[in-house]
Amino acid sequence: MKTIYLDHAATTAVDGTVLKEMLPYFSRRFGNASTLYTLGHESREAVERARKQIAKLINAEPNEIFFTSGGTESDNTALKGAFLANAGKKHIITTKIEHPAILQTCKWIEKQGGRVTYLHVDANGIVNPQSVANAIGEDTLLVSIMHANNEIGTIQPIEEIARICREKKVMFHTDAVQTFGKIPIDVKKMNIDMLSASSHKIYGPKGTGILFKRNKIWIDALMHGGGQERGLRSGTENVAGIVGFGKAAEIAMQKMKSEGEREKKLRDKIINGLLKIPKSRLNGHPTKRLPGNVNISFEGIEGESMVLMLNEKGICSSTGSACSTGSLEPSHVLLAIGMTHEQAHGSLRLTLGRETSAKDVGYVLKAVPEIVDKLRSMSATWRE
Ligand SMILES: Cc1ncc(COP(=O)(O)O)c(C=O)c1O
Repeated sequence: MKTIYLDHAATTAVDGTVLKEMLPYFSRRFGNASTLYTLGHESREAVERARKQIAKLINAEPNEIFFTSGGTESDNTALKGAFLANAGKKHIITTKIEHPAILQTCKWIEKQGGRVTYLHVDANGIVNPQSVANAIGEDTLLVSIMHANNEIGTIQPIEEIARICREKKVMFHTDAVQTFGKIPIDVKKMNIDMLSASSHKIYGPKGTGILFKRNKIWIDALMHGGGQERGLRSGTENVAGIVGFGKAAEIAMQKMKSEGEREKKLRDKIINGLLKIPKSRLNGHPTKRLPGNVNISFEGIEGESMVLMLNEKGICSSTGSACSTGSLEPSHVLLAIGMTHEQAHGSLRLTLGRETSAKDVGYVLKAVPEIVDKLRSMSATWRE
């Protein structure tokens, strides 16, 4: 049975060209990038090339890019680093729908004496920029608002929010793990001070990410040691991973427009097809959403049962974010957009990618209604 992978928001397969670029750095070119001989220089050059490739994708300066182990580390570094470096200001503003990498970091900051405001979102998952402006006070240090949500795909008006922050002299960080390489980002034009991104969401290897930090922003390091990454992130560089991320960013930049348009068409075909199922609803904004994101709830259905039945038909899907699967708690994102616990439990997320074809979409549009019918017919409580 063919596998139809529709969980690209969780992770992606490493692109063949990316893998080819990485391979020499596991064996022949194994040098430590901090050493003085040719083997080390080759690694250093490869790391700096990747830094340029990544900087170009978001219109940053290469020396504003810091390599990390992924989105989680970048989010932790941005928030904790800012909090630790600015002892006077203790207030952080974020939203209720952030990834746990932000929300759990905020909880830690609260334990250290910080104060965090968790802003509400509307029924489509959008943060009102005016609510950000209203929440900023004398002691506000940082605003952190994700560029797009990993579950419902809603894209936030971060340009407007960042402009408010710049005017009020408050740092602005965005978790762009789901948008980096997928929709345009210009850190200069958008007034972004810090940005987190991750390689494995854009067909690069797992365990590599970046924190973009504008040169005028000061934060403390969380990792201390040999002083790599200009002291912000000590530890021998993951050269092969960094090389892979650089190449993945270059390819993403080339493909962004055409692939975005292609995925958007397939996405809308799935959404329109699945909304024909009675008592179904789309979660997230109808148009301000990631090109590859579908998130739909079906009344009277357990999302987990649907994921397992889709798996039997070779389809990989998800019901909340991959990070929270295994927990019986309904998604905090779906609750924040006003859904009941019951509705939130009946949600299905399908996230498309480069290898998703029109044929796959046809298969999904046949499989999902059959499964919904079957699950509803088995339910003791379901009444149409
Ligand atoms: C919005 C968002 N932030 C952060 C992360 C964490 O990134 P990583 O897996 O690279 O640690 C993810 C991963 O799912 C994500 O979707």
